[in-house]
Amino acid sequence: MIFETHAHYGDDQFNNDRHELLMSMAENGIGNIVEVGAGVNSTKDAIALSEKYDFIYSAVGIHPSETADIDESIIEWLLSLSSKKKVVAIGEIGLDYHYNEPERNIQKKWFKRQLALAKEAGLPVIIHSRDAAEDTLDIIKSDCAIENGGVIHCFSYSWEMAHIYLNMGFYLGIGGVITFKNSRKLVEVVEKAPIDRIVLETDAPYLAPGPYRGRRNCSVYLKYVIDAVAEIKGITQQEIIDITEKNAKKLYRLA
Ligand code: NI
Repeated sequence: MIFETHAHYGDDQFNNDRHELLMSMAENGIGNIVEVGAGVNSTKDAIALSEKYDFIYSAVGIHPSETADIDESIIEWLLSLSSKKKVVAIGEIGLDYHYNEPERNIQKKWFKRQLALAKEAGLPVIIHSRDAAEDTLDIIKSDCAIENGGVIHCFSYSWEMAHIYLNMGFYLGIGGVITFKNSRKLVEVVEKAPIDRIVLETDAPYLAPGPYRGRRNCSVYLKYVIDAVAEIKGITQQEIIDITEKNAKKLYRLA
């Protein structure tokens, strides 16, 4: 079945139909979902959803844009959550220079701190990196920060950059952007990346694929991403589903 490696069903956009939608996942071919924390509240949501639904796992972490007000007590709290059975990763963490908020040094500080946390927790990382390719790489390299692998979520950089991450053992998270008309750069990445290092993700409710672009996204629409990846790779949709599921289970150590 399809393994959704990155979603945010705790988002308010799902308040009216969250339960019905999640209960319809299996009949739409969606097997497991990882609900990803991006701040304090969404991390609480992730834990709660993973406790309510057996097919949902969770990741705990603070998104770079949410790092302005955190302190060491939040890190301690994340560490305590990380030992829960269904917590499979630390994330999403990283750098986001698109809006430059909060300032870069603060983002870097908490990115490093959460990488250390992942080491301590013995978990892989989910990395969010937007318009911050060089700094992200510098931090990952300089701290020898990654012991348990991870995924570059919503991969948006060049093939050259992808190649470096692949050499470090990372998976690449591929979602709705691959269906956009201006996705030439990402098509090249998917073309050249080994299929056993690609995982599927929506980032729901964001980044809906082609036909739904601009609307609320959900894991059911991964079929459009699968179509696009299957076409690029020249193999069947079912092969894409099977291989990426295996990859995701390896990444999150569920195999
Ligand atoms: Ni996300």
